[in-house]
Amino acid sequence: MMEVGKDSEFFEERPTRRSFLSWLGWGSLALALGGVAQGIPVYLYPQLTYEPTTTFAVGRPEDYQEGEMRPIEAKQVFIFRTPHGFQALSMVCTHLGCSYKPFGPPSKEYNVVHARCPCHGSVFARDGRVLGGPAPRPIPFFALSLTPDGRLQVDKAKTVANNVYLTPEGRVVTGPVPDGSEIKFT
Ligand code: FES
Repeated sequence: MMEVGKDSEFFEERPTRRSFLSWLGWGSLALALGGVAQGIPVYLYPQLTYEPTTTFAVGRPEDYQEGEMRPIEAKQVFIFRTPHGFQALSMVCTHLGCSYKPFGPPSKEYNVVHARCPCHGSVFARDGRVLGGPAPRPIPFFALSLTPDGRLQVDKAKTVANNVYLTPEGRVVTGPVPDGSEIKFT
């Protein structure tokens, strides 16, 4: 009977601990390189992102009464109808992005029409100015236009000065800086 010794093929073909670790090392390296290679196209080619549209309709001019301040909560904007035309004012506080409350009449503390943010107490004037609190910037006014079928359309990607109005007929005009005296508080 033939004895199987240490030098036989049987022992030479079995993987040794060293070769096993070597294969493990090369395998891990290959996996790591594969992962890096997979990530390269992401850096080389910009990812497509589908941003929500910045324009939206908010009804027809005749849907608004003169002196109305209408919060459009879903779009975070106030629409004002003044004797000079329409304005769209952001409803987002410029401090940390809370929704501030609708404008109210002058008070003892602020003798002008103003709105207050409930989060940290910023106070804004109807023309967007910061009257108090930590808000670092005025509130922006957004561009308004009329759609071909006659609806008011807000474009949150375009800001306008606080004395710009859209007439019910669709003309963009300048007028007085609003002080809130046009709002009919109910
Ligand atoms: S988020 Fe409005 S005051 Fe802080």
